[in-house]
Amino acid sequence: MAMKLWSGRFKRNTDALVDELNASITFDSRLFREDIMGSIAHATMLGETGIISLKEAEKIRAALYDILDDIEEGKLVFTLENEDIHMSIEAELTRRIGETGKRLHTARSRNDQVALDIRLYLKREICEIRELILSLIATLHKIADPHTQTVMPAYTHLQRAQPTTFAHYMMAYANMFRRDVLRLEDCLERMDESPLGSGALTGTTYPIDREMVADALGFKRITQNSLDGVSDRDFALEFLSDLSILMMHLSRLSEEIIMWCSWEFGFVELDDAYSTGSSIMPQKKNPDIAELVRGKTGRVYGDLMALLTVMKALPLAYNKDMQEDKEPLFDAIDTVKKCLPVFTAMLDTMTVRTDKMRAAASGGFINATDCADYLVKKGLAFRDAYTIVGKLVSHCISSGKTLETLTLEEYRGFSSVFEADVFEAISLETCVNGRNVPGGPSVESVRAQMSNINEFLKEKTR
Ligand code: ARG
Repeated sequence: MAMKLWSGRFKRNTDALVDELNASITFDSRLFREDIMGSIAHATMLGETGIISLKEAEKIRAALYDILDDIEEGKLVFTLENEDIHMSIEAELTRRIGETGKRLHTARSRNDQVALDIRLYLKREICEIRELILSLIATLHKIADPHTQTVMPAYTHLQRAQPTTFAHYMMAYANMFRRDVLRLEDCLERMDESPLGSGALTGTTYPIDREMVADALGFKRITQNSLDGVSDRDFALEFLSDLSILMMHLSRLSEEIIMWCSWEFGFVELDDAYSTGSSIMPQKKNPDIAELVRGKTGRVYGDLMALLTVMKALPLAYNKDMQEDKEPLFDAIDTVKKCLPVFTAMLDTMTVRTDKMRAAASGGFINATDCADYLVKKGLAFRDAYTIVGKLVSHCISSGKTLETLTLEEYRGFSSVFEADVFEAISLETCVNGRNVPGGPSVESVRAQMSNINEFLKEKTR
């Protein structure tokens, strides 16, 4: 191993095992684009402000672009020798252009450099993940469209509660994923500041132009305090929190899909391309994709917890602990980007069993609330109506009947207020479409929710 960059201060080189533990190049090499673009902006500013000559700046820039091309074409591979992506690229630059290359790191530290690289990287990833969520929302909208009249049970405590429609159900998830998009946009807005110029921790004595660098790199602002600029990882934690919430939503829908695929529910059937079989039980068709998404949610939570724990109790400013920010971030990004497209395609190709949904909504007292509401509309107080219908349900259970199959005489045995129109009042269609309140399951209300989501999609994909 060659002598270290800092060998002037040291009498001996680092131990080989130390190099292995210390190095981040095995995982931070994926920041090469951001690192090079940051260096190009920095070199340009050094030239413009006269800290180095314009000619030197140009030479550095040209060589950095060449290095970028070579990395992209796979011609340049990194080794442990240079510890991390920042030192690897600087070493390669100096190898290529000699003395001039050594001027690049003027008025800069790896501490503000790495803070910059991660922000740039996450900004790009947020845009990509946002697109994937938008396409999931569009798919939910498409699935909902033919099902505004597909009655199904809605549950509380996983007990059949009140009837709704499949479109209403899908729109519930569309709203969750809409919030996930908005959360990521918020996160992007707060992270959109350039820390470059914070130096190692207290800025620099050179007459740098931080705004110029920020502008060149597409940042809205610069960070306000150099100690904070190099030691802040809130933006990374916020990003991981947003991904955790997104995964939680995916996991909840996965759980529903898994249940709905069971023989007991049978509400949906997954396409063969998005299901797996069993190595022993010939009849099995398993919802592995949904289960994996549910499982991988734990992994993303783990990534968030890992970084929260790394950052806890770190004094200002940079500490090497912070090098541990990258693997959780990359893992969470990779996981989310792997899950979202497959999950969307799985939903898109799934068959909806409207008959099974309707059968599950029928005959299970799911219309009991509406039966009580019927009495209220005839003048009874809700509490009295509620008690009467409770007795009716109890009678049904002991006589093996349902609210639909009771005779009018039986109804009147419990309250003389019941008339023949009760049957119409407790039909599933009346139950659903009577809930015409904004946000409710009526066709009109769900159509409004769908056009609202459509507007959102149009606005976001403009
Ligand atoms: N590889 C380091 C990291 O990811 C870069 C910053 C190193 N700074 C330092 N003072 N050792 O955190």
